[in-house]
Amino acid sequence: MRHLIVPNRLVEDTLSVLKENGWLAQGMRVVSHQDGEHRLVPLDTGAPAEFPEPIRELEITTVEGSIDERVDSDWWTHLTKLVGKKEIEKHGDSWPSSHEFISDMMVVRIEENLDEHSESIAKAKLISHPHIRLILRDEGVQGELRIRKLSPIGARIDNQIVTESIPKTHISTRVTVKESGVKIACDPNKAYFSSKLQTERLETLSLAKLLRRHLGRPISICDPFCGVGPALATLLSEKGLVSEVLASDLNPDAIELLLQNLSTWDRREYPIEPTMVRRVFDDRIVGVADAMDLSQNPEFRAKWDMLIVNLPHRTIDILPSLTGLLDMNSVSIVRGRAIVAESEIDDANEAICEALPPRVEGSDEPSLKIKRDYSSSLRLCSFQAWIAPV
Ligand SMILES: C[S@@+](CC[C@H](N)C(=O)[O-])C[C@H]1O[C@@H](n2cnc3c(N)ncnc32)[C@H](O)[C@@H]1O
Repeated sequence: MRHLIVPNRLVEDTLSVLKENGWLAQGMRVVSHQDGEHRLVPLDTGAPAEFPEPIRELEITTVEGSIDERVDSDWWTHLTKLVGKKEIEKHGDSWPSSHEFISDMMVVRIEENLDEHSESIAKAKLISHPHIRLILRDEGVQGELRIRKLSPIGARIDNQIVTESIPKTHISTRVTVKESGVKIACDPNKAYFSSKLQTERLETLSLAKLLRRHLGRPISICDPFCGVGPALATLLSEKGLVSEVLASDLNPDAIELLLQNLSTWDRREYPIEPTMVRRVFDDRIVGVADAMDLSQNPEFRAKWDMLIVNLPHRTIDILPSLTGLLDMNSVSIVRGRAIVAESEIDDANEAICEALPPRVEGSDEPSLKIKRDYSSSLRLCSFQAWIAPV
């Protein structure tokens, strides 16, 4: 979670500015910095990538957020009332310890042995988080389109908590989230979206700015696994950063949401219905496509300064079929994510290097950086490579 590093004497003033703008993370604590002279103030995901005055100069760091015990103890109190102390103790660490907010929805993972308590979990979460409308049980990402199976287990309807036979009219998962100051329409039941990737996207933004500085001009971006477009949201919000964009995905539902999002971000009217990938404006190519076929089309081939490869369970295998998209007349960047067993990271680094064209002399070789656990043995990692022109 992003935190502002605030000198102790400025904490109160900074908190006022953040609260006033809705930029302070809810349910998280302000914690002391190890230097004793600063505090780390948790930021809401909707807070902008860069702040205006008077907090513009403050540095931002990304560290694990610290849950506000008062909110957390609330949920435990309500859960204990609902299931009894004995059950709480019996299931120990199995109770859900974290959740993900997507707008006014909360996504919770519930272990199988707690099936019988999912209703109580939903009730306790809804009581302790009054701004939440819908609780969804996360049953994992499924299929090639990486769509999460999310089952509604509780809803707030006219101030009443409902956990049985929730009416269809109240289980819509189509929401708008605000990330880094930009609105993103998404529907996690129809297209992949995770609010946990904000830091990843901000890192991509920093890399894109470096590339723009290096090339001395706005850069063209190819995002062939774009989903509803969250990476583009961050990049397009930076003035003068992006020239042309190719945004495509295999999932038509993702493209439908992307078209709505692009209409908002670009302030132009995009078509409403998703079509196969095509040029929609002079500087925008958008639509449904299998990423592996893109570089066979001469209109899309060898054109892009930055290539975003976000299909982490297949990245290493598919890299060779994507590199033809890069513009080899000047320096370009490949930015990717990969899921790899921790013990195989060295081999994966070697495979990535082999799959990519030669790197810029003197730049760091692509090397997987662990971002978080994907399972007990697998890690979600990211990398970047600066590709040399030929
Ligand atoms: C992990 S999601 C990332 C989505 C988006 N970039 C984001 O960060 O939210 C991977 C996306 O790749 C898409 N996808 C899977 N296979 C594909 C393929 N062969 N060609 C194009 N897109 C594909 C899925 O539909 C999904 O939207």
